[in-house]
Amino acid sequence: MIPINAPQIGEEELKAVVKVMKSGALTHGLGAGPTVTKFEKKFAKFVKAKHAIAVNTGTSALHLAIVGTGIKRGHEVILPSFTFVATAEVIAMVGAKPVFVDINPETYNISPRKIEKAITKKTKAIMSVDLYGLPADMQPIREIADKHGLRIIEDSCQAHGASYKRRPLGAFADAACWSFYASKNMTTGEGGMITTNDDELAKKARFMRSHGEKVKYESLMLGHNYRMPEIQAAIGSIQLKKLPKFSAKRRENVERLTAKLRKAENLQLPKEPRGYKHSWYLYTVRLKGAKTKKRDIIVETLRQKGIGAEVYYVNPIHLMPYYRKFGKHRLQETEKAAKQVFSLPVHPGVTEKQIDFIGESVLRGIA
Ligand SMILES: Cc1ncc(COP(=O)(O)O)c(C=O)c1O
Repeated sequence: MIPINAPQIGEEELKAVVKVMKSGALTHGLGAGPTVTKFEKKFAKFVKAKHAIAVNTGTSALHLAIVGTGIKRGHEVILPSFTFVATAEVIAMVGAKPVFVDINPETYNISPRKIEKAITKKTKAIMSVDLYGLPADMQPIREIADKHGLRIIEDSCQAHGASYKRRPLGAFADAACWSFYASKNMTTGEGGMITTNDDELAKKARFMRSHGEKVKYESLMLGHNYRMPEIQAAIGSIQLKKLPKFSAKRRENVERLTAKLRKAENLQLPKEPRGYKHSWYLYTVRLKGAKTKKRDIIVETLRQKGIGAEVYYVNPIHLMPYYRKFGKHRLQETEKAAKQVFSLPVHPGVTEKQIDFIGESVLRGIA
């Protein structure tokens, strides 16, 4: 099987892990050990942010960003429904209400045009998602947020190395959140990071990741244990160094696959609009006009051939059993996309020959 994504781990990561293990310092009481701190500095520099706070998952990063921006019970947060459930989960976890807004069918990201209609007196923030690694349209989102006094949390969990209007992700947001889960463009197995230019938010996030402490056993606020272990940070620093190479190989694969699939009139290929740099975490195509069943048969045929095609996401969040309680949302474009999209492997471990095989198999499958 050619998996949809696969961690790219080499000798350097192995050596870095052994070094930490031999040092005996596997973690740090406040989550601020030397290896974590080094990784944070490198990551902050990479995204040109003032602060980077490493945590144990992308979900934890989102949770800290939600609490750190002051969102609580009674508040509403606007977000897309076409994303991984963690984006909505952290809003519900603090007792706030997720308000789902439809997507732009060309980019699959939240439609700025539709955000303003969803704003009420209770709205406190917008959570944008850089879905599949393509940045959301952050400039109009920032303008809407400024007009209405809202915060912006950017879920960049899929978008390492992407940029928008020549600026790294997070530049238009109050905080950006990153995941280093095993499938991501760079990984620590499990891991996450918040980046921000907001001193107060950064301070809170640092306290909260370790039981609300600045000093051990003196909790200043409610917290949790969201610390990143030293071993994970050691892997992260190496992966960050390798990210440009990983990204270049993804891009090569994408260009080769696009050249193959371009002639398929019934496929909508993924876009990289001018001024956007995609991370190509997922290469997602859309079977125009298709019903779910037809798409699912194609995906199954590809899987039988050893191609790890996947659907992200079969169930938009507003249709999930738990999330239905947040009200009826009519999200036509989201629901249509969920029936027609599927993603194909383009990760750095996929060879040219495999890309050709994937391309030919898709063309045959949709004919
Ligand atoms: C869009 C999005 N948000 C949030 C997350 C959560 O990250 P993690 O799995 O590291 O908790 C992920 C990744 O799984 C994601 O893809």
